[in-house]
Amino acid sequence: MSPSRPPANVSFENHGRVVLVTGASMGIGSAIAQAFADSGAHVYNADITAPSDKGGNRIKHLSCDTASETDCSTVVEQVVQEHGAIDVLVNNAAIQPVDSYHPIDQVKTEIWQRMLDINLCGYMRMARHVLPLMKQQQCGVIVNIASGQAHRTARDVGVYGPIKSANVMQARQWGVEYARNGIRVVSVSPGAIDTPMVRASLAEQGGASELGNRHPVGRIGQPHEVASAVLWLSSDAASFVTATDLEVDGGLGALGAFAAPYPMPE
Ligand SMILES: NC(=O)c1ccc[n+]([C@@H]2O[C@H](COP(=O)([O-])OP(=O)(O)OC[C@H]3O[C@@H](n4cnc5c(N)ncnc54)[C@H](O)[C@@H]3O)[C@@H](O)[C@H]2O)c1
Repeated sequence: MSPSRPPANVSFENHGRVVLVTGASMGIGSAIAQAFADSGAHVYNADITAPSDKGGNRIKHLSCDTASETDCSTVVEQVVQEHGAIDVLVNNAAIQPVDSYHPIDQVKTEIWQRMLDINLCGYMRMARHVLPLMKQQQCGVIVNIASGQAHRTARDVGVYGPIKSANVMQARQWGVEYARNGIRVVSVSPGAIDTPMVRASLAEQGGASELGNRHPVGRIGQPHEVASAVLWLSSDAASFVTATDLEVDGGLGALGAFAAPYPMPE
């Protein structure tokens, strides 16, 4: 049975909307920023590193370490000064250093603390700076990029997995708390997606991998396939969707035991 093929980009209309994406210099964040820009949005990329490809003049890079309170507030202030509104915040910036792939007693303190500060507190920081504005606007969408590892165990993700599950719970909690303010908050949990983060971990494991084959669709995902889900969730087409999570994982999560290879029938 041959693997499914990723479709061409699916587009939504985002003309004039203001979108802030963290960690959009590469990987999934870059695809999300590009998809919003292609559909007419003014997009800001809050990333600690500059992008190698600037993605046209609809995406503006603002240097930002989401572990820094000052950086996060400065970025939000700048967007508000330039556009007076933020329609969508995508909390995407996260790290999974190869040195974190150990049982937790073997992960160095500075590594798990940095992961907490970016992957968990970074999402909280950005949301706290954006929510007062969204409350004034009486509208807005926050999308937390979580992970399939938020929902089930896998080997050596004892730091990363629990923090990602907190990203899911942030969306559920905040989604309920701000529903009456016209603000929707959701999380997206990708399966394995072809990005620098995944390539780094595969390289560490020897490069070769049957990772794609473990997904029922027979392949890992492409960043634009996560971006399509984010665009839909951020659009009015998803107006009754809040405080919930969407797994974008080629069926991986439905298999049960995440770590076990699954023989697909021919
Ligand atoms: N790639 C996957 O298979 C996969 C699967 C599930 C979930 N995710 C999640 O998707 C998101 C994106 O992952 P990716 O694979 O594209 O990662 P990536 O490493 O390819 O890109 C991450 C981006 O975040 C930026 N970044 C890192 N630390 C930052 C900080 N402190 N402040 C601001 N920006 C920072 C990086 O510079 C980079 O541009 C993450 O939340 C990750 O946990 C990825």
